[in-house]
Amino acid sequence: MARTESPWTRVAALTDVAAGEAKAIRLGDGRSIALFNLDGRIYATDNQCPHMGYPLTRGAIRNGILTCDWHGRSFDLEGGGCFNYECDDLQTFSVDIRGSEIWIQLGDTRYRRRDEHLRLMWEGLLSEDRWTISKAIALLLNGGVPEKEIVEMMLRHLGRRIASSHDVGDGGSVSRVISGLKVGRRYDGADRLIVLATTARSVAGKAAERLEVVPLPGPVASESIAGWTRTFSHDGQAGRIERCLFTAYHLDHKDKILPLLYECAVEPRFLGFSDNLISLGRLAEIVESFGWEQSSELVFNLGAKLIGRRRDEPERFRRDAVGLMTSMIPDIEASNPSANKVIDYDEDAFVNALSSANVQKSFDAVARALDAGVHLDRLITTLVLLAADRMARTPVKVDAGWGVLTTELNLAASLRTAARRGSGRIAAKGLFHAAWQVFADRWLNIPVRPLTAPLGGGKLDVRDEEAGVHVILESIASLNAQDVGRQVLEYLNARYSGDRLLHEIGRAMLWDDTNTQVLPTLSTIFEEWEASTGSDPARGAGHPARAQLLVGLARYAADIRANKDSGSATNTAMRFAEGKTTVDVFEE
Ligand code: FES
Repeated sequence: MARTESPWTRVAALTDVAAGEAKAIRLGDGRSIALFNLDGRIYATDNQCPHMGYPLTRGAIRNGILTCDWHGRSFDLEGGGCFNYECDDLQTFSVDIRGSEIWIQLGDTRYRRRDEHLRLMWEGLLSEDRWTISKAIALLLNGGVPEKEIVEMMLRHLGRRIASSHDVGDGGSVSRVISGLKVGRRYDGADRLIVLATTARSVAGKAAERLEVVPLPGPVASESIAGWTRTFSHDGQAGRIERCLFTAYHLDHKDKILPLLYECAVEPRFLGFSDNLISLGRLAEIVESFGWEQSSELVFNLGAKLIGRRRDEPERFRRDAVGLMTSMIPDIEASNPSANKVIDYDEDAFVNALSSANVQKSFDAVARALDAGVHLDRLITTLVLLAADRMARTPVKVDAGWGVLTTELNLAASLRTAARRGSGRIAAKGLFHAAWQVFADRWLNIPVRPLTAPLGGGKLDVRDEEAGVHVILESIASLNAQDVGRQVLEYLNARYSGDRLLHEIGRAMLWDDTNTQVLPTLSTIFEEWEASTGSDPARGAGHPARAQLLVGLARYAADIRANKDSGSATNTAMRFAEGKTTVDVFEE
């Protein structure tokens, strides 16, 4: 087959590049090319340093070695090879002098560096280097590599990292990954890149190799695996649980794994371990999105660590609560909460009991509501809106308690996944865990109010929706947590779009330094808000407190905000992937 030669392009006149000097030439597609006139010969290279994009025309040349003036990476001027470890080679071009004109052959511009850039991302994940991660992701996306491949690498890395660490703190990373991916799908361009980079950063860290887990030998019945898992969960033996789960997988009992993990996680002894249900919910979502092949290591290892964690002797309140919930288990086991259909119930009495700082009253209210046939989704909605309402009203002068309030919210919302991937009974038991969380947060100084009472308030005094969004974003930017809640409520009272406002608040949060921390809550609010704008009353449609989802989020965003320009690495990475030098970016 005849090879088509890549075209030659006239880039400059010989007189444009004085002897011993360098000159940057901008091509029609925006790329910057460096020309060097050295010892009577013209050399042409990409002007963008492959490290971080500094213009190489500002570098120094000695003995055929071009050295970048920023961080000192050096390259073979003729062939482009980089002499430093962890740096891409530089693209160089053939040069032809035609009379008094300089022509260069641009060569094949098709993207061919997928593997290199995936390796770069892997290096960034191991070294936790924000720039390397952002650059690799920007280059991969710009080269047309599907996002799925990038995400799969993150998951592989996270699986390795969790498997080689000894605690369960990494459950938070799982929550951030899956939340980040879900939030990212709602945004485009630079916003999407920052979510991906943020998500990748939240899984970055050292990951050691470990011995492969192998299934138990011999014929093993799935009932035995379930029984052993329950025993090891009771005894706090995570490693043994992992082997049981791995065996179940190999025996093709995959469908039983998540329900089994859930079944152990909702046991009374795990009251107070709210991250169990939140993390299991996220693991279940990872399996739903990426399949078992990609998720098994992560699910077995983290799942085993969660339900196999060792527990200290509970303090008095927790010991009493464990006993109380244990006494209620036979009734829950005998019931069928999935069949519950009642939508209208005395929600204010329920909320009152939950907020009473009396665990007996609180658990009795949950048991009564289940017994009265209240729809599980309806009870979960109450708990979600109660958490949002508390976020909307918590005093921000001292410690607003954002950590525990967002746990209340995310735990309550995770019960929907528990019902879907576990069972109605599991979600029903999960309600006691959510109720316990509210009880445990009784130190928060938030007055009780009826959740069904109208929120009241006036209308935001602005010209139009655009101006309303602007006012609220300004309050978030200036950390005005005192006023932003009222403004959001008044914005919604004026019937401006909550969807749009949520999208904009989400974007502002993503570009802050706190972005990894906020992803799970942002993802929950997106989903709950969306459901509450639908037609299902069990999911909050028409509920008088639904505005508190956005009010609480805005106050949270304004109060925890820390912006040291975390977006700069992402922005620079995007420009870098487009071929711009740092000087081009600066001039823009
Ligand atoms: S060495 Fe060139 S930009 Fe860092």
